[in-house]
Amino acid sequence: MSHTSYPSPAEVAIRPATFADVEDLVEVFKITAPLEESFRYRNQYVQQYPEDLIKYETLVHHLFISPKYSDFDVMVAEAPSIEDVTVPKVVAYAVWDVSYRNKRQWGSEYKSQNAKGDAMAQLGGVSACRHVNPIRRAAMLEADGEGSKRHFEDVYGGDGHLELVRLKTHRDYMRRGFGSALVTWGINLAKEQHLAAVSVVSGQMGKLLYAHLGFKHLEQVMIRAPGDTETFTDHYMVLELQDHKQPPQKNQSWQNERCGRRLVWDI
Ligand SMILES: CC(C)(COP(=O)(O)OP(=O)(O)OC[C@H]1O[C@@H](n2cnc3c(N)ncnc32)[C@H](O)[C@@H]1OP(=O)(O)O)[C@@H](O)C(=O)NCCC(=O)NCCS
Repeated sequence: MSHTSYPSPAEVAIRPATFADVEDLVEVFKITAPLEESFRYRNQYVQQYPEDLIKYETLVHHLFISPKYSDFDVMVAEAPSIEDVTVPKVVAYAVWDVSYRNKRQWGSEYKSQNAKGDAMAQLGGVSACRHVNPIRRAAMLEADGEGSKRHFEDVYGGDGHLELVRLKTHRDYMRRGFGSALVTWGINLAKEQHLAAVSVVSGQMGKLLYAHLGFKHLEQVMIRAPGDTETFTDHYMVLELQDHKQPPQKNQSWQNERCGRRLVWDI
């Protein structure tokens, strides 16, 4: 089926994910994530231990969707399958960090949830996830914690912005507007909630989509673990919602206690 004959983005259904979607989400992840530099960097041993990746990602997606992890909203884009347009298929999904809700409710003492860290702990720690290079993972976490604090928390406060944690479009369904539809869902939520900004830490592919949607590029940070020869680059990007901007509350102290919590690239 050609690009033009496929249904338009107007026909996409954006809905919250349920546990019944986990297998489909992991399938999209498995097909799409290896296109990202950060995935290849962190999951250096995935060829040797593919089953560890699937076990870990299945649990991570499960936790993201679980009502117990109310810091996260997972939205799914469902559209007609290319093979048979009468059959709906999960073609893309987004994971949003909506911890601003809990922070608004519980105040600055609220400790953000760490679905990815918890999943790893439940599986027996990083040594049980043999697909991961632990040194690279640690370097990524550290860089991400610092960058997010500097660009997002210090600027918008802990509860002033909505963060995109994951966005994946199935490889066969790219460039059809699904990624944009999912990000637009978040932008609309942020506007409704009077948040100051939508933020993301992106790789090379995502950067093009976010720029297309009007996000501003703040900084690129090269990550290299100690003793490593390989690197990859994170891009800090933000969409400021000028009309909805609220100054961060002065007495809030969102210190870097969350370092290791918001693991955009901990995939
Ligand atoms: C990034 C990603 C989510 C984009 O999803 P998508 O559904 O293909 O995005 P859209 O169709 O909505 O793209 C909208 C616009 O973004 C830009 N864009 C998106 N992907 C692009 C690419 N690979 N090359 C150039 N421009 C691109 C284009 O301007 C595009 O509009 P156009 O197709 O009319 O030219 C998808 O490529 C993906 O899943 N990549 C791997 C995972 C990843 O990098 N996720 C982002 C992590 S933060």
